Amino acid sequence: MAVVITGIAELTTNDAELGKLRDAAVVLDGDRVAWVGAAADAPAADERVDVEGRAVLPGWVDSHTHLVFAGDRTAEFGARMSGQPYAAGGIAVTDDATRAASDEQLAAGLRKHVDEAVSQGTTYIETKTGYGLTVADELRSATLAGRYADEVTFLGAHLVPPGTDADEYVDLVCGPMLDAVAPHVTWADVFCETGAFDEEQSRAVLTAAGKKGLGLRVHGNQLGPGPGVRLAVEMDAASVDHCTYLTPADVAALADSDTVATLLPACDLSTRQPLPEVRALLDAGVTVALASNCNPGSSYTSSMAFCVTTAVLQMRMTVEEAVRAATLGGAQALRRDDIGVLRPGSRADVHVLNAPSTTHLAYRPGVPLTWAVWRAGARQR
Ligand code: NIG
Repeated sequence: MAVVITGIAELTTNDAELGKLRDAAVVLDGDRVAWVGAAADAPAADERVDVEGRAVLPGWVDSHTHLVFAGDRTAEFGARMSGQPYAAGGIAVTDDATRAASDEQLAAGLRKHVDEAVSQGTTYIETKTGYGLTVADELRSATLAGRYADEVTFLGAHLVPPGTDADEYVDLVCGPMLDAVAPHVTWADVFCETGAFDEEQSRAVLTAAGKKGLGLRVHGNQLGPGPGVRLAVEMDAASVDHCTYLTPADVAALADSDTVATLLPACDLSTRQPLPEVRALLDAGVTVALASNCNPGSSYTSSMAFCVTTAVLQMRMTVEEAVRAATLGGAQALRRDDIGVLRPGSRADVHVLNAPSTTHLAYRPGVPLTWAVWRAGARQR
């Protein structure tokens, strides 16, 4: 069934040739975009939706979330707002709650958070394991995640479980855990940070995952300068995420690579870290993505719009740069060319704002602006 969406005041396509269109229309056919152009030239379709002068853009691509979890860390967040620092060790609290939860409880949480994201314009979502940290619990997280998320990442190397020898745990991750989980995931990730995994341990995990044919991602440079970015570039990771503390050498290495710098501003605000120096990245030609990092510890939001607003108002990205980073940038961080863009053949992931332009995402901070969403051609709201 074909749907023509017409009456579009401003259409962001992220396509180099189509650019940004005014007074436009889009035709969706099944799960694909069939046509993009001037409203006056739009072909007929089975259904017509007139958005009456609103802005349309590709759905948000949220390329970094941790949604397989149980439990609550409100008290930890409250303590942080009273001056306590964020540390990797907090992950263990969620690990305990997640292991104790039933499959049904974890599935309900996943569904709830994915639905919450979609209702705010997210149409493609990655999520990670990493709150199981045993072979059985990581396998369970991966299989449950695959039911609700578009892409699943193995993050057995999220934290060395308290009381475990770090090198023995790395051997477990690189051996039996990876063997069990690899058939259920596309990506592998490692938290390369003080208090989590050092450079050598992180390289071992990424090397083992690469040999299994998994794409690579890295959590790096979140809590201080470190080897994460360098390692991600060395291993041709698709993305290095956080990038809160970057040296000029890190920026140069990223600029000379195919690794996307994925920035997580909601996390930086929620952990009272500085916001990343995005202008240095953009000026050097680095591809930048924005993602929510939705998780119960460091960033409990599914709102990509909040990330875009923060990127514009506080990180000094232009609206166009921030919207692009939260759509096309996310797609590039997942090495996909059929999402984050609206052109014939791309996935029919459409976000209609209750506003005439994307500028309103920053001009009206905090106001929920999602008016309609199609995800792979299926209307969500
Ligand atoms: O991306 N940095 C590592 N992992 C998550 C935090 C998880 C947690 O604190 O529970 C992150 O911020």
